[in-house]
Order: sequence, then structure tokens, then C-alpha cells
Amino acid sequence: MNDLTRNELLEPEDIGTNPSSNPSLESVLNARLSRRSILKGSFGLASTAFFGTSLVACGGGSDVIASTAPEITKSLKLNFNAVAKSLADAVSVPAGYTATVLYRLGDPIAAGVAEYKNDGTESGASFAQRAGDHHDGMHFFGLGSDGKYSSSASDRGLLVMNHEAITGAYLHAAGQTIVDNVRTVADEVLKEMNAHGVSVVEVVRNGSSYSYKKDSAFNRRVTALTDMALSGPAAKSPMMITAYSADGSKTRGTVNNCANGYTPWGTYVTCEENWGGFFRRVAATDDANRTAKERTSFSRYGIAGNGTHLWATPTTAAAGDTTFSRWNAMKLGASTNGSDDFRNAPNTYGWIVEIDPFNPASTPKKRTAMGRFAHENAAFLPPVAGQPLVYYMGDDSRGEYLYKYVSTAAWDPADATRGLAAGDKYLDDGKLYVAKFNADGTGSWVELKFGSNGLTSSNATYAFADQADVLINARLAADAVGATRMDRPEWVAVNPANGEAYLTLTNNSNRVLANPTSSQQVVDAANPRFYNDPKGTAATAQKGNPNGHIIRWKDASATATTFQWDVFLFGARSTADAANVNVSNLTANNDFSSPDGLWFSNNTGLLWIQTDDGAYTDVTNCMMLAAVPGKVGDGGKKTITNVDGATTRAIDTYVGAAPGDTNLRRFLVGPKECEITGVAETPDGKALFVNIQHPGEDTKPAYSNPASFGSHWPDGGNARPRSATIVITKNDGGVVGGGLA
Ligand code: FEO
Ligand code: CA
Ligand code: CA
Ligand code: CA
Repeated sequence: MNDLTRNELLEPEDIGTNPSSNPSLESVLNARLSRRSILKGSFGLASTAFFGTSLVACGGGSDVIASTAPEITKSLKLNFNAVAKSLADAVSVPAGYTATVLYRLGDPIAAGVAEYKNDGTESGASFAQRAGDHHDGMHFFGLGSDGKYSSSASDRGLLVMNHEAITGAYLHAAGQTIVDNVRTVADEVLKEMNAHGVSVVEVVRNGSSYSYKKDSAFNRRVTALTDMALSGPAAKSPMMITAYSADGSKTRGTVNNCANGYTPWGTYVTCEENWGGFFRRVAATDDANRTAKERTSFSRYGIAGNGTHLWATPTTAAAGDTTFSRWNAMKLGASTNGSDDFRNAPNTYGWIVEIDPFNPASTPKKRTAMGRFAHENAAFLPPVAGQPLVYYMGDDSRGEYLYKYVSTAAWDPADATRGLAAGDKYLDDGKLYVAKFNADGTGSWVELKFGSNGLTSSNATYAFADQADVLINARLAADAVGATRMDRPEWVAVNPANGEAYLTLTNNSNRVLANPTSSQQVVDAANPRFYNDPKGTAATAQKGNPNGHIIRWKDASATATTFQWDVFLFGARSTADAANVNVSNLTANNDFSSPDGLWFSNNTGLLWIQTDDGAYTDVTNCMMLAAVPGKVGDGGKKTITNVDGATTRAIDTYVGAAPGDTNLRRFLVGPKECEITGVAETPDGKALFVNIQHPGEDTKPAYSNPASFGSHWPDGGNARPRSATIVITKNDGGVVGGGLA
């Protein structure tokens, strides 16, 4: 099949005008596919067949299609054999595929910057022009010959990716220098701040693979030091005032950029996840100086402690230089509004941040209308002209929530070239909802709106002042409306063929059968499993939901406030109890644990699943799998019987059709101690970019004995391990993963 046409078929920003006023999402997408099939003549077979795949999945539809179009026999299929589970210090891909290393920690992205020595000796400042650490969420933006975004350009593009965190043991010559809880080497902290954030790098097709262009004018690092605008309803709130911004209109930097998203207008969004731990706030001292509301908010967002990396502590900063002191969120100044310290700085983190990769001088914008929490990623429904734009977003902590953002403005395809100005229109004004999953397989979206649903100044737990307060304290608002506490919501991905959304629930050690503490959650229909997954030869107990699951739902339309859901897949060892643990009947070819990265190819329509696991790592390193998606409701109701000692609790849930080896296969296994996270493709589907995060991070290195390093990937020998982006291509030049066959 013609690959470019396939891409065009599924390109979400390419959804055109729709004549009806409020059709169901699926009817719009299907109408689109049908129109394509008519307009594209000979390609109509393939596009209709893709639609036919969806019908096959929901049962009986293939007969309907076949009776009216008997020539249609193609369906979505995987084009590779599964790779085996592995504990090797290497990347495994299927036979017929090649993986090439593209962009590693420390690689220079400007002319004149030296090659990375990988011995921890580079300066902190140099990292403003080097690849950061812990590569994570990623997107490929095609770059047209005019230097602008092209959704069809594959030979040249901007690869934009997050750098979530650091491995201090390898970033510095001999790890972090800490004396009595103080970072005594300021340059190490500067290096760490520069190693976080986002990379923009130009990549070009180079023979059968890709390389990055070291001296491209588009190359850019956004770091924990970059100036950022606060945008939307919470900008300029009194709660945003800091010594850096007396009117609360801006802040500095972004950290813990976990997963990502993009927009229909060709910009990137990066998501701030575990930012709370970066701030220093010694509660024993500071609590007495804070209001009851502030203490409630700090407690809910986990803002207490010395700060993950003690960034507030270097003492060598010049007077008036707040590079380090701005990580101190304690009330230190005499002002009443916080304009003389950084007591409000935590409120300026925890957002979706929009970056225009095509304009290296642009100021990133934190989009406060989308709520403040531990953002994992942001995935949009294929936009439909005349309808609002919808993003789904997960909050990754145990027992946290799933959110939906619906823009006030209706989508106008003319905005597709307007960059951050389009972001101002769609992402600064909208409704924020949180999900409730009901026991009967339905669910509802509850709006987080000041003055509604108990979100008022009379709320018993937290007296909300206004909508800015609701957005800054979205978790407290979601608590108040009774949202469903989930098993750690990670990535959301939207099926471009039918608009159904999938969410990884990575694992939850706090899921219990009964008598929960305040930090535990009792099993329910949407988070139905409690079990023990014994690890290693010692059979160390791992209880709760250690292997995670992937739930999916179907909104009837962009503005729908109710949905239907089921569980697409349950993670498990293939050898686990098939009745109550390995509920999706996983086999040796596709068993996995702790799904995290989740992404639909717009080219093939395949679903890619990546793992960030600690439970099954006695058997295999983390991995990536490809799945042929089914459809909400393609399975059925199932009773799971959970047992914990003498306690038994049966839970009814809804489970998708078991995929079997045909529809779910392991595509890649990573090197030792890594996480696989972040995936992007060229529009022609012939190159897949994947991030390998923190190989070797669990083993404490003995620097005098490099052989002791937990991994030597990707450089080999006795080298220090490095997070890196790889490119995967099919040796015959075909589309990666599968397609219609
Ligand atoms: Fe940074 Fe939720 O993974
Ligand atoms: Ca993640
Ligand atoms: Ca994770
Ligand atoms: Ca990670």
C-alpha cells in the first residue's frame, strides 16, 4: 500500500470540515475515511479496509463490509516475529529490522562544542548546548523546504524530546558532591539544571537511517533555566507571584519533563511530572509561617523536604543571583505577597508547557487552563472543524486521576499554521474535567469549575478562592468531586481510526482488598486486580497491582460528559494465574509488566506500548510491544477473584478481547536497568524513533572499576551508560511494525 497515502489517511490534523453540527466522533472519522476512499480512487480499497478492521474488532462488521464490498480482504497485521525476553545489555529488535543510535546524553548540538567525553568532566554551562539526560517523550515534526512545519516531510525534521531526570552517578566525574546535605560544587547543580528540560534537534535522512545535524539553526535546549510565560486563567494570580515575577506572569524553567504531546498547529507540549520534589521546604520550620490552605496544598502535592537534588543549597552564587535560591520554597521574605522570595514558586510548576520548535527564540508557555498535577502526557482527539479541541491527560501518582480538557474555541483548520498564537486560542480557555469510572462499564467527566460541584469557598477541605485556585489545586478539586482513584495514570493515546482513547495504568502497590489507609485504594471495576507477583528466586512478594493494565474509553463526542470503558490489556507474567491475574492470556511472545509509554502510529494505526518496570525485571529488561487495537466492548464482562490471605473479594470488570500472539508482539527489549519511553515516527512510517532511558541506573558504580557499571550501553566496552535515542528501520525499507496485509 502507498505509505504516504496511508499517512494522509490517518493524519489527525488533516481532518477537514464536517457538514453536520454535532455528530459522534466515530461517525465523523468514519465519514472522513469514506470521503478519502472516494477522493483517492485506487486507495479507497485500503482506507475502507482499515475501517473494516475496526468493524471486525467489534464483531460481525466484517460480514457487513464483505457483503457490500467483497473485494476487501485486508486487515491490520504485525509484520515481524516477536523478540524474546532478555537480560542482555543490548537493544534487541526483530529479524529484518535495524536499530541505530542517534542522539546520546551529552552529544553536542552547536558548532564548536566538543564531542562528549563521557567521563563527567564537561562544564555545567556546556550542557546548554548538549543533549540532556533521561530522554523521554518525543515527537517528529516534518521540516519542509521552506523551513516550516510539514506534516508530510520525512527526509528532514525536528526531533523534539524531553529530558526527564538525571543519573548523577554518571553525569559527574564521581557522582554528586554532597557535604552535610549541601551541594558544595555549584557547577554540578548548573549541569543538572541544564541536563533537564527539552531538546530540539534537526534530523536528516542519511542513507537507510537518520543522523542529527550538529550545527542546525533550529537546535535548541529548553532547560530548568529557560524563561517561561505563565498563560491562561492562573497566570497573574497572586499565588504565582515570586521574586522572579512580581506580577505572576512568568517563571523560570521546566523540570521532570516526562511524557509529551503535540498540537494540530505544529508545536510541542512537554509535561511536568514529579516537579514537587525539586523544591526545598522544610515543613518543620516553614509550616508555622504558612496559611492552612497553603499547608493543605503542599501536603496534597508532596512539597516538603530538602529537595531531590538539593538544588537550593549551593553557596557560591553571587549576591542577588537567585539561580539556586529560587528552589527554596520556604517563606523567607517580609513581604505579604511573596514578591521577595520563592514561597510561591511551586505553583509555577506542574503544568503543560507549549514550545514552538520552529521558532528557537520563542518563549515557552505554561498552559494553566489544563490544570496542575504530575502531568504524564497529553493526547488530543483528532480535531474536527467546528468542534472543540480535546486533550486527555494522566496524573502519575498512586491513586491519582485522569483528566480531560475541552477548548472553548471550536477548531478552525486555518489555525494550523499559527504556532503559539493558536495555543493562546485553544489552550488558554476551556473546561477541565476529571474522570469517574462506574462499576457498570460507563463513566462520566465531572467539570472542575469554581462555583460548581462543591468547588467553592465553603469547601471543607480547601476553601477555593477562584478558578485560578481550582486549576493550581486541581488535585484537591478532583478529590472534592469524587473522581476515581486510578493505578497511576501514565500515557494516553488516541486511536486515529475511531477516536477511542487508551490509558496506561502502570502499577499500584497501594491497591488493596479492604480497610484502606488514606494512601491506599480498594479494588474497583476499573482497577480490579489485587495479587502477588513473586519476584526472583527468593520469591519476594510484590502485592497490589504490580504489573498494571491499559484501560480505554470511548467518548460519544468531543463534548460528551459520559463514556464507555473496558480494560484493553492486563500486564502479567505469562505463567501467572490465567483466571485472575493473566486475564488477557498473554504468552511468552507478548507478556509484559508496568506499561507506561503508549502511542498510536498515525501511519499504520498500530498501538505501541513501552514499559517502565521493576516487577518483571528478574526475567527481562524493559521492552516495547506493538498491538493491533480492538475496540471498546470487543470482549465482555469478567469476574476477577482477588485473594489476600484469608480475605477474598470478587470484582466484576469489563475486559477487551484477548489479543493472542497475532495482535500483540514484543518488538524490542532494551539494555540493562533501562526504561523504554518516548516514541515518534516519520510521516512515511519508515523510521521509528525510540528513547532508551537511564541504562545502568540501579547499580552503584565503583569508579575505579568501570567494569562495575550497571550498563555500558550504547558505547560498549567499559564506557559509562548514556540515555539515548535510537532509530529503527526495516531492512527492506518498508513501514515499521505492520500495516494492511
Ligand atoms: Fe515519568 Fe510517569 O513516568
Ligand atoms: Ca513515563
Ligand atoms: Ca513510569
Ligand atoms: Ca523515568
